[in-house]
Amino acid sequence: MKYIIAIIQPDKLENVLEELEKKEIHLVTVTPVMGRGRQKGIAEVYRSHKEQGSLLKKTKLEIAVNEAFVEKTVKAITEGARTGQIGDGKILILDLQECVRIRTGERGGDAIG
Ligand SMILES: Nc1ncnc2c1ncn2[C@@H]1O[C@H](COP(=O)(O)OP(=O)(O)OP(=O)(O)O)[C@@H](O)[C@H]1O
Ligand SMILES: [Mg+2]
Repeated sequence: MKYIIAIIQPDKLENVLEELEKKEIHLVTVTPVMGRGRQKGIAEVYRSHKEQGSLLKKTKLEIAVNEAFVEKTVKAITEGARTGQIGDGKILILDLQECVRIRTGERGGDAIG
């Protein structure tokens, strides 16, 4: 199992959710966050809302998936969020040790989707 974290432009959220839905990926956590990339929040100001100091408003998506869904998820996020300009975002993929559905007690791959 993998835990996929994506930091994207807030105005690309709807696009990304649509691309995910097309691939039957429905379970997601979305959080408004602040961040800066390698331009240190400077060169990208024209396309982002400055939040605090050098930090810009971003949107974080978190998706836990079985191995079979990793590449599909990365593709959906990339297709939904990419413009080719700086600040399009980043995807981080972590190994996920365990997942528990609280209601049923299911674990692992059965609990994920
Ligand atoms: N190495 C990192 N560690 C933690 N957060 C990061 C990292 N890189 C990017 N982020 C987060 O992702 C957001 C978007 O990053 P961004 O797309 O600007 O990446 P970049 O590496 O600067 O690439 P680009 O040159 O395309 O802008 C940042 O504002 C920050 O919140
Ligand atoms: Mg950047």
